[in-house]
Amino acid sequence: MSEKNRLNDAKLLCPVCGKRLLLEGGSLRCMEGHCFDVSRQGYVNLLPGRGAFYPMELFRNRRFVFDRGFYAPLLEKMQLLIERYVKAEKPVLLDAGCGEGYYAGNLFKNGNWIKTAFDISREAVQLGAQRYEDVAFIVADLKRIPLPDHSVDCILDVLTPADYTEFSRVIKKNGCVLKAIPGEGYLKELRTLAKDQLRSGPYESDRVKDYFALHMQCVRRDRITYTLPVTQEEARAFARMTPMLQRVDVEALDLGGVTEITIDMELLVGKKKR
Ligand SMILES: C[S@@+](CC[C@H](N)C(=O)[O-])C[C@H]1O[C@@H](n2cnc3c(N)ncnc32)[C@H](O)[C@@H]1O
Ligand SMILES: [Zn+2]
Repeated sequence: MSEKNRLNDAKLLCPVCGKRLLLEGGSLRCMEGHCFDVSRQGYVNLLPGRGAFYPMELFRNRRFVFDRGFYAPLLEKMQLLIERYVKAEKPVLLDAGCGEGYYAGNLFKNGNWIKTAFDISREAVQLGAQRYEDVAFIVADLKRIPLPDHSVDCILDVLTPADYTEFSRVIKKNGCVLKAIPGEGYLKELRTLAKDQLRSGPYESDRVKDYFALHMQCVRRDRITYTLPVTQEEARAFARMTPMLQRVDVEALDLGGVTEITIDMELLVGKKKR
């Protein structure tokens, strides 16, 4: 798909005036003359001037781990769930807080989906745009999604904060949100190792699930858990790819004993509350 089609199909709105942005030359422009350049890699920054949220190194390590297939079973499960809940003819997927783009890039490959992905971290969006050509990548904030009301069939929210008022505005009447949250076993081998350095308590998944149920009609809950062997190089990449260990001195961890890693994720499907 050409860059032009991809960015125009995304139906992006100007973050300044809210009018539709259309591609003209190498930029997206609205009727009021606000202008946002398409980067060399093909993404558009709708939050210019914003500083780094997470370092590039975190996203490179995420990509390394994704490329080794550790999240492939989760991806497969997500695809099945979305197929079950989305029946539109030319469906629109929005990956909110997409990171380096693994899910948007690998779901519905070669299908008729319109795929848009955004993140507040420019570093992440850069990586995504370099690799996944059938996805429109944007730097944007999930508190102000630059898309029209009722325009999305499925919002993906994987290990990312959520704004359900904004999500409900953007999804179609029968659209859904697929939220992935870490279960208590998620990366437990690393969290156990780092527990003396971790200042925050365990991830409060009950609170996150209650908050989801307060704002969305939860129509399905699934759990996916598996443990896979890792090399030392992979264990190190896992330790560097998760914001859970962001304040931990990874060099000081004795990763020698980490020979396997557990992925434990809960998947919630929510529809708009009536
Ligand atoms: C743990 S990462 C998950 C990224 C991706 N979904 C994945 O699973 O690889 C959380 C992501 O949320 C993004 N994020 C945090 N707050 C955000 C916001 N307000 N708007 C958009 N993205 C945000 C971060 O930059 C980061 O890429
Ligand atoms: Zn404008």
